[in-house]
Parts: sequence; structure tokens; C-alpha cells
Amino acid sequence: MRKASILAIVVIGIFMLCGCGSVKDQPIKNIKIGISVYDQYDTFVSQMMSAFNAYAMQKQENTGITINVEIYNASGSQSTQNEQVESMIKEGCNVVCVNLVDRTDPTAVIDAAEKNNVPVIFFNRELVEEDLRRWNNLYYVGAEAFESGIMEGELAAEAFHEQEELDKNQDGIFQYVVLEGEVGHQDAIVRTEYSVNTIIQKGVSVEKLGYAIANWNRAQAQTKMNQMLEEYGGQIELVLANNDDMALGAIDALKAQNIPQSEWPAVVGIDGTDVGLEAVRNGEMIGTVYNDKEGQAAAMLELAYTLSTDGAVSSVDKLTGNTIRLPYIKVSAKEAGSFTPPGADGY
Ligand code: BGC
Repeated sequence: MRKASILAIVVIGIFMLCGCGSVKDQPIKNIKIGISVYDQYDTFVSQMMSAFNAYAMQKQENTGITINVEIYNASGSQSTQNEQVESMIKEGCNVVCVNLVDRTDPTAVIDAAEKNNVPVIFFNRELVEEDLRRWNNLYYVGAEAFESGIMEGELAAEAFHEQEELDKNQDGIFQYVVLEGEVGHQDAIVRTEYSVNTIIQKGVSVEKLGYAIANWNRAQAQTKMNQMLEEYGGQIELVLANNDDMALGAIDALKAQNIPQSEWPAVVGIDGTDVGLEAVRNGEMIGTVYNDKEGQAAAMLELAYTLSTDGAVSSVDKLTGNTIRLPYIKVSAKEAGSFTPPGADGY
């Protein structure tokens, strides 16, 4: 009896020794990436997640390493997101990717990650630089907001110069309204400012009739556009939307009010989502600015994979410091037909 138990202990001991040795030398067979998005119904973010999943599967096939991706929806609550990050860490995620609900409040996420030594890749909703520097295992993947504003302004100015009929009252001034994203979001503030300034720089006089906050959301934009149509009606010559979904909401309002397309204001958006690009192709929008969701997804996957395996992030393409930014692409009505998103190759 006694002998048997001693033997058992020795055998277990040998197993453990072998186990330790072999685990150390063995290549990694699987990794786990946890993601929390601020709202899974956001068109841009959900399309970016589909691209991420597709690239993860591709990477798995190419490397033979199993890549488990778990995506959580924070449903607009920062405290829910904080809990999700805690549980992703507990579940053994090698890296967590966070699309912050409140980009000014990343403290709980950063503290939990640092305590457990799990790297964090923030994406799309940019935290302030000071926060990004709080620990050396924090990264950001996104784009440069001002670039999209400039391109949107260029599209509007080019259309005004080229299509006389857009100046409905022929006063030489582009009367516009703005549909803005969430208050405090880097892309909302910056896009509006740069697009309007660019139109002016391109030699077009402008007059702002009104603006409304529609939180990136198509239905909210339709409601707000209805109100602005009631107030300004046919005076509106241009709708500058901070994203395509809100541009499409404005178009929904124009359609619902049975306004003939020949009398519509010029509508311009940002993102180049599938529905946005379709609206440019069919002439409902004068253009959009492609927000490279595939490039951002591929960059985030590459970074997450590297952090989870050998950790040598210096080899990750386009990483400057701890940030990766993908360029925007201007898509006018003329270009939309032949436009193909750059995809992972562009990354
Ligand atoms: C996109 C919006 C999106 C938002 C979410 C922006 O970069 O252009 O469409 O709703 O990010 O954070």
C-alpha cells in the first residue's frame, strides 16, 4: 500500500518534470484574443469585427496555431466593459482588444491589464495620449481623424465647383447642415472642423444653417434630418455627415418626405461601409471617405498575434511607437464604381 503510493508520487513527479520541460520547448499551439466593442450594432465596428474574424481564420490556416477570438458587446456601458475585461483576463486571454465606451475613462481597463500583465490594444475610439503612455503594453489601432475631414471637405468643394445645380438659390454660397457623431468622440469633433475648413480653403463660401447630434446612428439621423428639413426645407444644399450611417439617415428622411432626388441637397459621408459605398454608386451620395476597416482589422490581428506569441512587436508593420494608423481614401461618385477596398494587402 505504502509502496504503491510512493510509486505514484514518483511517477507524477516524473510526469511533471517532463511536462515542464516539454511545455517550455514546445511551440505555442493556441492563443486567445478577447475583444470588447462599445456597441455591436454600430455598422462600422461590426464590419471591422467581421474582417477581424476572417483574418484570424486566415492566420490560423497559415500558421497552424489555433486562434480563439471572443467578442463581447459592452452595450454602451463602461462598467460592463470593465467587467468584460476582467473576465477576459481571468479566462486566460493572451491579449485584450478594447473599443472603449468612454474614451476618457480607460483607467479600470489599464489597471486590470497591468496587474495581470496582459497587453491591451485599444481601437477606433482613441484614448488620450497620456493614458496610452501609462503602461508600456498599451497600443492603439485606428486612423487620423483630421484626414477624413479634409477629404470630406474636398469632396463637397469639388461637387460644388462641378455641379452648378447644387447651388439651389444660385447665391454662390453652399448652405449646409451637419450631422454629428457622439459628443466627445475624436472623429466627431475633428471631422466637422476639418471638413468645413477645407471647403472654405477650396474657395467655396459656406453658410451653416444648423447641426444635430445623431450619435453615428441612422435612425437618429433620420429624425434629426426631418427636424432640419422642417426648419430649413429647400434651403439646405449640403449635408455633411460625420459617417455614412448618418448620411443614409438623412437620405431616408428625404425619401420619406417624397422629395424628388433632383431637389436633394448633396449628401456626403465617411466610412465607405457596404451600404455607404452602394449609395455613392447609385448617385444618392456625392461621395464618401473610406475608413479602412480591413486594414485596421488586419493590423490589430497582426499586433495581437505577435503579442500573444513571440512578443517582438518591432516586427509589426506600420507600428509607430505604440500606435498603428491606417490612411483614409477619398471615394467620389466618379471613383465609386471601380473602387475596391484595399483589404489586408493594403495593410
Ligand atoms: C466611424 C463611425 C463609428 C465610430 C464608432 C468612427 O470612426 O466612422 O462610423 O460609428 O467610429 O466609434
